[in-house]
Amino acid sequence: MNDTNQRDSFTSKFGAIAAIAGSAIGLGNIWRFPYITGENGGGAFLLIYVLFILLIGITVMTSEFVIGRSAQKNPYGAFRLLAPGKPWYLIGIMGVLAAFFILSFYTTVSGWTLEYVYQALSGNLTGKDNSQLTEMFTEFLNHPWRPYLWFLIFMGFTAVIIILGVKNGIERYAKILMPFLLVLLLMLCIRALTLKGSGAGLRFLFHPDLSKITPKAILEALGQGFFSLSIGMGTLITYGSYIRKKDNLAETAFYVSISDTFVAVIAGIAIFPALFALGGQPASGQGLMFIVLPEVFQRIPFGNLFALVFFILLAIAALTSTISVLEVIVAFLVEEIKMARKKATIIAASSVSVLGLLTVASMGKLSGLTLFGKNIFGILEYLTANIMLPIGGLFIVLFIGWFHKKSLTKLEMTNNGTIRSRYFPVYIFLVRWIAPVAITAVFLYSLGIIKF
Ligand code: PHE
Repeated sequence: MNDTNQRDSFTSKFGAIAAIAGSAIGLGNIWRFPYITGENGGGAFLLIYVLFILLIGITVMTSEFVIGRSAQKNPYGAFRLLAPGKPWYLIGIMGVLAAFFILSFYTTVSGWTLEYVYQALSGNLTGKDNSQLTEMFTEFLNHPWRPYLWFLIFMGFTAVIIILGVKNGIERYAKILMPFLLVLLLMLCIRALTLKGSGAGLRFLFHPDLSKITPKAILEALGQGFFSLSIGMGTLITYGSYIRKKDNLAETAFYVSISDTFVAVIAGIAIFPALFALGGQPASGQGLMFIVLPEVFQRIPFGNLFALVFFILLAIAALTSTISVLEVIVAFLVEEIKMARKKATIIAASSVSVLGLLTVASMGKLSGLTLFGKNIFGILEYLTANIMLPIGGLFIVLFIGWFHKKSLTKLEMTNNGTIRSRYFPVYIFLVRWIAPVAITAVFLYSLGIIKF
């Protein structure tokens, strides 16, 4: 049922890892990880984050691959096939909904990267200190049309790539370009670390102050882990269905998760030392990266040029992620509602844009419209990362751990017995016990229902 039909598949082991890493690595690592870490106390947060990636993240990711590759379908269709007549397909529906919400705020931030490309081009990022850059960011968010225009342009790019199916094209470019993004980040790290007073930032990021571990921080660490790895909503079920039958699923999940975490930590090292050296607040919210990094670029020879290249590459990194999110909705409409791909993409992109433009407005003109003290942007971010993705992940591990036949999981993970899977018993233990118990415990703890 697999390699013989006309479904696309990645053409090499490296191609699969690159595409999946392309989905995982994006604004979640470079924009969101530092600002969430900054708001949740630094080192202790990082420690819990890494623990969650190792114990829960890799387990959920492997499980999504097992589901996707054995079913060869979109998430909804996969659960219908593997568990006929059972309600597991609701995970697929929740994934489609989560895709809508994530795209709304993620494309908003992607639009910001385009604005910064434009600002670098106009030379406006130079000669500004922290407070001027903060002001520039706020002014931009409140501008009557610029953030909306960038949102629509970015959404347009994403839709065009999905329609033309030039995914392979963009993956080929991304494979070449993403190492450059890493090089630029490393360069920023070096500059940040050589600033006077940067040591305080390193301490903030790497010295765990256990008193900062609050129920909120733990839930945020879990949510950020899910968000950053693109797990819990079926993106990687879809991508898993494109992995070749001879590639090693657990190994792929391991490499992608480690690379993703590495990039996040590097982004942290580029931002916190500079932040402390140049005098800013770690809890500056969603603007953190857009304020700190231009400051660092100003202190590098040809900084404006590097800033320009950096924001272009960041926009591309964001694009390889938005594609993977939109694909969840489009694959569902095409395979389950039998819609043509082009029509499905246009419908999906335009309906996301309605909510998306409201989300853009909620960072400016509509910022007064709040629920539980959060604007629309904040609600969508919190709801998806901290609630929908972990719940999706919980049911995914419950499905593999307790519903799907263990022998079938083993066949899928060993490629029908052709490769050894030394860690299979470890995986089974994680998927049955550790991951579900840990996710549930985090929820109960953050709701104040259990205490440690
Ligand atoms: N993981 C992506 C990032 O870190 C965002 C994403 C979330 C993509 C969920 C797909 C699904 O930028």
